[in-house]
Amino acid sequence: MTRSWAEPWKIKMVEPITVTTRDERERAIVDAGYNTFLLKSDDVYIDLLTDSGTTAMSDRQWSAMMLGDESYAGARSFYKLVAAVHDVYGYEELIPTHQGRGAEHLLSQILIEQGDVVPGNMYFTTTRYHQERAGGRFVDVIIDEAHDPTSMHPFKGNIDIDKLAAAVDEVGAERVAYVSFETNVNLAGGQPASMANIKAVYAFCRERGILVMLDATRALENAYFIQQREGGYEDRSVASILREITENSDGATVSSKKDNLVNIGGFLALRDPELARKARALLVAFEGLHTYGGMSGRDMEALATGIREMVATDDHARSRVGQVEYLGNKLIKYGIPVVKPIGGHGVFLDAAAMLPHIPQDQFPAQALAAAIYVDSGVRGMERGIVSAGRDPETGENRRPKLELVRLTIPRRVYTQSHMDVVAESVIEVYEQRDAITGLRFTYEPESLRFFQATFEPLPTT
Ligand code: F0G
Repeated sequence: MTRSWAEPWKIKMVEPITVTTRDERERAIVDAGYNTFLLKSDDVYIDLLTDSGTTAMSDRQWSAMMLGDESYAGARSFYKLVAAVHDVYGYEELIPTHQGRGAEHLLSQILIEQGDVVPGNMYFTTTRYHQERAGGRFVDVIIDEAHDPTSMHPFKGNIDIDKLAAAVDEVGAERVAYVSFETNVNLAGGQPASMANIKAVYAFCRERGILVMLDATRALENAYFIQQREGGYEDRSVASILREITENSDGATVSSKKDNLVNIGGFLALRDPELARKARALLVAFEGLHTYGGMSGRDMEALATGIREMVATDDHARSRVGQVEYLGNKLIKYGIPVVKPIGGHGVFLDAAAMLPHIPQDQFPAQALAAAIYVDSGVRGMERGIVSAGRDPETGENRRPKLELVRLTIPRRVYTQSHMDVVAESVIEVYEQRDAITGLRFTYEPESLRFFQATFEPLPTT
């Protein structure tokens, strides 16, 4: 008999959520311009927009907040955070920021010069934005399987070393700012990189004097997948695997709103004190003094506690990823096209396969996310052509191979019954897919357009 796992926590406080009628939701989605980012949370029943900052903190984190030292300079809470990052991730230099993109901004500014190339394993929206803003050119070097939602490759986040070598050879190692290596690649569907690949990339880069900077935002989930899938790691703790990942890098940006179990915060971590000095010089202009960056003392207390808590036992990672897999497997059972294998932080619906009658220029994933919301009040997010934006040089739409709706699971927030409600809604919308029509822009922001764009449905022909 296979035995069930259950969450390694019990519920001490609850937050009521609203149940709306279909009529109310139809009005709300029109008001939001068919963009789930523009819905009011009061109009949302189960919120799977993101796993970012949506975590439920533990009683230990809440009580740690009371210990926050709000001194402007040299706060005790900062040194606790330095110690937690050092113990868990192994980096010596800590630059605290308000969230992940603050760290991406600083890293891009200190390492990228006009015309530099930044190879990476699939882009992330804010990461690439900062790389391009600093004058860099992002080159996608992820393995081809990552772009195929049906490929069962266990490590779809891997970097293709041949593609990386070609990108380096094209401009020469000195014009490569750094390799931007994301763990558990978000836009590929929450897909991990293998330890073998992480090591191979680091060795390749060391030989050529190129830095490897991780986006370690979801490195814990990546470490868990390595434990589950990579030979030789089955008896290792998730904590020790995480350390082995970071050992193969020169630094990392982290959005602490994910793995680290807090609602706000992030950091840039480095090994080289000289680089850290450059980052701190910018930090004081853009975020805050170097001993708080963009966080209050209590934020840093909650974060230091969250970082230790996420690796205290493997049970947290197991139940976190287990809940995502529960939802994904239920959808697979009912024949819903999803990105496989099921990723670490969410289930990604293959909108191109679900709505083949809507061409990519009419935003099938955006339309699907809106339809699911109207059906049940479940809020997901477009991760397709709208998120990909336009090429800054040509002004043309970037056309990603993946046209997805992400149902992202917040950590420690929803129960298995919530997951059942979500699955039933997606199944019902899929059964009635012919009624869904494409969309067109009524407002298109210049950059990071997915956050604030508005749409209207195209007339049915
Ligand atoms: N890197 C990755 C892989 C992310 O997923 C995010 C945020 C960031 C960096 C930026 O961090 O939001 O703290 O500034 N992802 C959120 C999401 C927004 O919903 O996927 P941030």
